[in-house]
Amino acid sequence: MRWLPVLSTNSLSAQPPDAGGEDAGPPETALVEEAGGAAAAAAVPFEKRVYLEVFGCQMNKLDAELMVACLEEQGYRLTGDIRDAGVILYNTCAVREHAETRVFSKVGALRRLKERRPEVVVGVLGCSAQNHGEAIFRRYPHVGLLCGPGEFLRLPELIARSRRTGRVSALDLGGDVAFERRRNLGPSRHQAFVSVMRGCDMACTYCVVPRTRGPEVSRPVQEIVEEARALVAGGVRDITLLGQTVNSYGKGLAAGRRIGLHHVLEELDRIPGLDRVRFVTSHPRFMSPDLVAAMADLETVCEYLHLPVQSGSDAVLRRMRRAHDMDHYRRIVDACRERVPAVGLATDIIVGFCGETEDEFRETIRLMEEVRYQGAFIFKYSVRPGTRAAQFGDDVPVETKRERNQILLALQKRISLEIHRQAV
Ligand code: 5AD
Ligand code: SF4
Repeated sequence: MRWLPVLSTNSLSAQPPDAGGEDAGPPETALVEEAGGAAAAAAVPFEKRVYLEVFGCQMNKLDAELMVACLEEQGYRLTGDIRDAGVILYNTCAVREHAETRVFSKVGALRRLKERRPEVVVGVLGCSAQNHGEAIFRRYPHVGLLCGPGEFLRLPELIARSRRTGRVSALDLGGDVAFERRRNLGPSRHQAFVSVMRGCDMACTYCVVPRTRGPEVSRPVQEIVEEARALVAGGVRDITLLGQTVNSYGKGLAAGRRIGLHHVLEELDRIPGLDRVRFVTSHPRFMSPDLVAAMADLETVCEYLHLPVQSGSDAVLRRMRRAHDMDHYRRIVDACRERVPAVGLATDIIVGFCGETEDEFRETIRLMEEVRYQGAFIFKYSVRPGTRAAQFGDDVPVETKRERNQILLALQKRISLEIHRQAV
């Protein structure tokens, strides 16, 4: 096992870095080819120049890599200049209201551009497309393409059809999404994200993800290992494995044999030249002794565990249908710390969930003081259409959510600082 430098709250998570401040929101990424991007785009006709902006989590960024690869194969090139693009695409995030509002205000602002240049294709991709479907066409008539997370490998064909017919939507989640990716467009030449599974089988009442990404599907171990080998051959030394509930990896992969994430970690540990492996995001329900042992024993696996708790109150966890209670959670934390004493723990917390009382909120404060996370992503609850909690009544006032958010942010800041000081 390898010691990992002290974490900043935003550095290593598959979550969007919008946990701080007043839901400031993650900086969306406009993707442009690094090497000679402008020149490459200028060399292709207008209708093949793509402007692509990506919102939300690492999963979305990884999806964008796959999109770019399949678009480039069909002769499209990325441009960083929206006015120079014949295709304008937004890969969206639906997990919180704030992220969605920002995407749709950008989409809305394109109406005039589309009037001036009707041949431009404007596309809404990913989770918000899946969640709102064709209602988007009604609200934004200048949008010509909707494509959910299950269909984005069809993008070249969909763009061409949209150009011919005006409107196309592809929102099937049951299809076979190939995970393979040919090269790394990740955060740096040496770091890459690798998806080990897609979708989520849980039913947290506040969360839109099972609806937008569909049920869980794991990739075969061998496929993941081959992808990792290819990335390492191309210079990658640090891999983060991604999955919505990454530690439930393996369901349905082998009849009669239980495959788990630790099997993947063991295989990756044998790849020469690969220095570090992390995995996010884990669900408390699926932490296994094998996985903790992998963190303790394998040289490449970092001592880092992102284990969202969401609330410190059993009553709130029940309303959230989180499938774990505080007793279970505390036992996992103890077991991890016993086996991996230096483990850096991180979490996600939602404040102001339906009916959250002052006492329930105080239980979350107590938990944070007790566990002392290295990093915490703290979110104000926002209603997501189509979720179960949307029927509960969003009864915690905005001001209270804001106050609770501020209290936890300040608490986490103090704890992170104390942990960091010990490491100086
Ligand atoms: N409101 C606020 N936060 C949410 N999250 C998921 N759904 C919501 C919502 N409706 C948070 C959870 C999750 C993280 C990715 O986003 O904390 O772990
Ligand atoms: Fe959403 Fe819960 Fe699935 Fe996480 S485990 S993606 S919070 S439903």
